[in-house]
Amino acid sequence: MSWRATVLTLFPEMFPGPLGQSLAGRALERGLWSLQTEDIRAAATDRHGTVDDTPFGGGAGMVMRPDIVAAALAGVTDDRPAVFLTPRGRPLTQATVHRLAAGPGIVLLCGRYEGVDQRVIEAAGLEEISVGDYVLSGGEPAAIVLLDACVRLLPGVMGAAASAEDESFSAGLLEYPHYTRPAEWQGRRVPEVLLSGHHAAVAAWRRAEAERITRERRPDLWAAYLVATAGASVATATRAP
Ligand SMILES: C[S@@+](CC[C@H](N)C(=O)[O-])C[C@H]1O[C@@H](n2cnc3c(N)ncnc32)[C@H](O)[C@@H]1O
Repeated sequence: MSWRATVLTLFPEMFPGPLGQSLAGRALERGLWSLQTEDIRAAATDRHGTVDDTPFGGGAGMVMRPDIVAAALAGVTDDRPAVFLTPRGRPLTQATVHRLAAGPGIVLLCGRYEGVDQRVIEAAGLEEISVGDYVLSGGEPAAIVLLDACVRLLPGVMGAAASAEDESFSAGLLEYPHYTRPAEWQGRRVPEVLLSGHHAAVAAWRRAEAERITRERRPDLWAAYLVATAGASVATATRAP
């Protein structure tokens, strides 16, 4: 069975959106994954379709009601991980994307307003994931980001030419820079080593560039990489006769 995504949202018309195009869209057409949307408002019990209410304790904005969200979730939850997208969640990483892509699929709950009543997050055991340290107006763009990242890792989605092994984050480093023809453009030449045909030299240059860029731009990733590589060399040294 293909990887199944179900998105609970107040705006089902936002999907598939960008996921209907390019790599993800072709994979959707080929049945490599499926996408179902559930309108949370369909679980409302009054004739106005009310899904939210004012926060206990006061404050601005509205909160999505636990009974409505629970009813919407009840119809779709199964063995798939269920995720609430929220700026308060653990930051989405490539490791999380690999874990989710390796499973049977995902159920995603998109918040709106100030968010969702805490009790339903706990009662349904939702994993809380953030797509970054900024606040979106709703969970839908975050769901699209998460699904896009997962879908491209599904078997058969990326062609043989593209590889997830060499990308940013796969070795704990950001990726090296890319160049293509022409070899000289507006007076800027492609680094000579890339024209040399010397595979080992190209690999060494790419490694050095990946390390430089990671060190300069992401001290957090660089520190983790140093710890991991130190651990690996200790393990190798211990194994040596
Ligand atoms: C306006 S936001 C609510 C922000 C919330 N009051 C807070 O300060 O954490 C509405 C919804 O957008 C989604 N959202 C906003 N930013 C997000 C992010 N960085 N990652 C994932 N979801 C996000 C969540 O579903 C959230 O419930």
